[in-house]
Amino acid sequence: MKTKRRALLGAAICMGLGSTIAGLPAFAADKPLTLGFSQVGAESEWRTANTVSIKESAKQAGVNLKFADAQQKQENQVKAIRSFIAQKVDVIAFSPVVESGWETVLREAKAAKIPVILTDRAVNVTDKSLYVTFIGSDFVEEGRRAGRWLQDKAKTLPAGDINIVELQGTVGSAPAIDRKAGFEEIIKTDPRFKIIRSQTGDFTRAKGKEVMEAFLKADGKKINVVYAHNDDMAIGAIQAIEEAGMKPGKDILIISIDGVKGAFEAMMAGKLNVTVECSPLLGPQLMQIAKDVKAGKEVPKRITTEESVFPAEVAAKEFPNRKY
Ligand code: AHR
Repeated sequence: MKTKRRALLGAAICMGLGSTIAGLPAFAADKPLTLGFSQVGAESEWRTANTVSIKESAKQAGVNLKFADAQQKQENQVKAIRSFIAQKVDVIAFSPVVESGWETVLREAKAAKIPVILTDRAVNVTDKSLYVTFIGSDFVEEGRRAGRWLQDKAKTLPAGDINIVELQGTVGSAPAIDRKAGFEEIIKTDPRFKIIRSQTGDFTRAKGKEVMEAFLKADGKKINVVYAHNDDMAIGAIQAIEEAGMKPGKDILIISIDGVKGAFEAMMAGKLNVTVECSPLLGPQLMQIAKDVKAGKEVPKRITTEESVFPAEVAAKEFPNRKY
């Protein structure tokens, strides 16, 4: 019996089976990795670029990608994750539409010994062993960067209150929660800044426009600044402001986050004042980390994307370098 077990172990080593980390199973090194990925949806230019990055990097890395679009619904993501578990994929990755409500399904993945990688958005779980790593931006810092830009700009504005309307991202999502918190942390230091309205535009252009129309109806010329949690909502707001007969970027300052090409075009047209970068190009890193996890390597618990801030003044120079 002992001899048979030793022989099996020897065969396993010859086949290139990797070592295990944190209770994860060993994998055959030559078998292509199967990655189940649950995407939030297709709500924005950013998301489209993120999907392209993941699909193209999977192809280049020889990863067998099973891709599911959740259409901004958490229940669809839970279903997709359960289906990946049933299919016994090697690794599951997902960009959670909202932060909370993931414990049960993540425990199911853990019980099936399938490692989970978070990309772009975080989850709010007490047991951090339910995921291996989180790759993505620091959304709080993005909010702070937006706030700091406004703080600087305010030095050039006439004395008196600066009335801000905020277009929030999807309710309960990590970027909406964090970008709000980061921005408020900075602007609360100056009593001139007043957030007079704040509502979700669900990260879409259409909703951003609709909410801005309502803000304009209620407060019109009182509004000095729009802070949009993403470029798409800012572009929607720009349309609403123009239709109301005002000049976006001049009569009302527009601040947004992402740095997509559409935002650069709006800046070059003088309609958007600044965009804080949030990179969607997470595909190459995700494939590498998924392979490392499969190979049993230790990976950092948090991998933060490096990003900058692009004010309108640099838009024309930077535009040719933009990749999304
Ligand atoms: O989670 C990243 C955010 O989601 C992007 O800023 C936004 O455009 C997208 O919809």
